[in-house]
Amino acid sequence: MLKIGNLRLNSRLILAPMSGISDLPFRLLNRKFGAELAFVEMINVRSLGYNSRKTSQMLSTNKEDKPLGVQILGCEQDYILRALDILKSYKYDILDFNAACPVKKVTRRGEGASLLKDPLKLQRLLKLVVENSRVPVTVKIRIGWDKNSINAREVALYAQGAGASALFIHGRTKTQGYGGEVDYRVIRQVKKSLDIPVIASGNVFSAGLAEKMFDETGCDAVLVARGALGNPWFFRKAKELPQADEVARAMLEHLDSCIDFYGARNAVSIFHKFFGWYSRGFRKIRRLREKAYRAKTRQEMCRVIEEFRGYKRVGQKAG
Ligand SMILES: Cc1cc2nc3c(=O)[nH]c(=O)nc-3n(C[C@H](O)[C@H](O)[C@H](O)COP(=O)(O)O)c2cc1C
Repeated sequence: MLKIGNLRLNSRLILAPMSGISDLPFRLLNRKFGAELAFVEMINVRSLGYNSRKTSQMLSTNKEDKPLGVQILGCEQDYILRALDILKSYKYDILDFNAACPVKKVTRRGEGASLLKDPLKLQRLLKLVVENSRVPVTVKIRIGWDKNSINAREVALYAQGAGASALFIHGRTKTQGYGGEVDYRVIRQVKKSLDIPVIASGNVFSAGLAEKMFDETGCDAVLVARGALGNPWFFRKAKELPQADEVARAMLEHLDSCIDFYGARNAVSIFHKFFGWYSRGFRKIRRLREKAYRAKTRQEMCRVIEEFRGYKRVGQKAG
């Protein structure tokens, strides 16, 4: 069992926060297949104050969507405090603080991964969050800013000192972005140095790679990010890949859940990218994908999904 503050989790696979992706329909579908803890995409503390439709949509949840993590991004005390106040009216079980995002727009403002360059500041901000949160606070970091400044162990100890209940660590530097090797060795060092749970992230694309992460780092749990795109089956016990019929059923459910959530017009275009992910690994899929990207209505998308049922996985015999 994994304990994060007062939260008890049976699963050691956690659905990662993914910006532009981790909405309620996505979380619910992954939960249906076995994901336990899931996250809302990162929310900037400044934008929380605008009280926009977009942020309240990001934070909307229901009773199946539990346990739920919310992740905030920011670097200014006043905005953070205001955000924590606003968050009081929302339901969630864990609050994560982002010190991992590598996007220029974010790091240029001193947020996300740029906090790795100032571990003391990160500790101060985390203390503030811990003191003002009614749920356990976690932090997400990377192994360092670049390969010449790998300082995850130091940052992690500061985070633990600030009262974080668990640490998420993406085994890449900020400069690496989302490509290149994952440094299992640094994650292992961090795990050895901390008393709180360490949850590892990076290239968890298959059951084998999840095993590798556990074996090589000794981590307490892993975060599944790109490995879950179009692949909620990642979270079920059986590990064989589903055939087209089963994938089509999940796509229909996901599409309808998006329609309920966003309304038909927006939902179909939001679903385009998911069609691309669900159909990965199927033979001669390009033409059908193009058709999916052109679909504007539920009916058009459903027709494409029906046609998809006839497709075979790469390596599967025809007929
Ligand atoms: C499209 C996309 C959006 C992401 N958005 C977030 C985010 O909002 N917050 C966060 O902490 N990490 C975010 N990440 C990082 C992932 O949570 C994860 O740490 C990273 O992708 C490494 O795992 P992977 O190699 O298994 O994908 C995002 C990753 C991707 C690909």
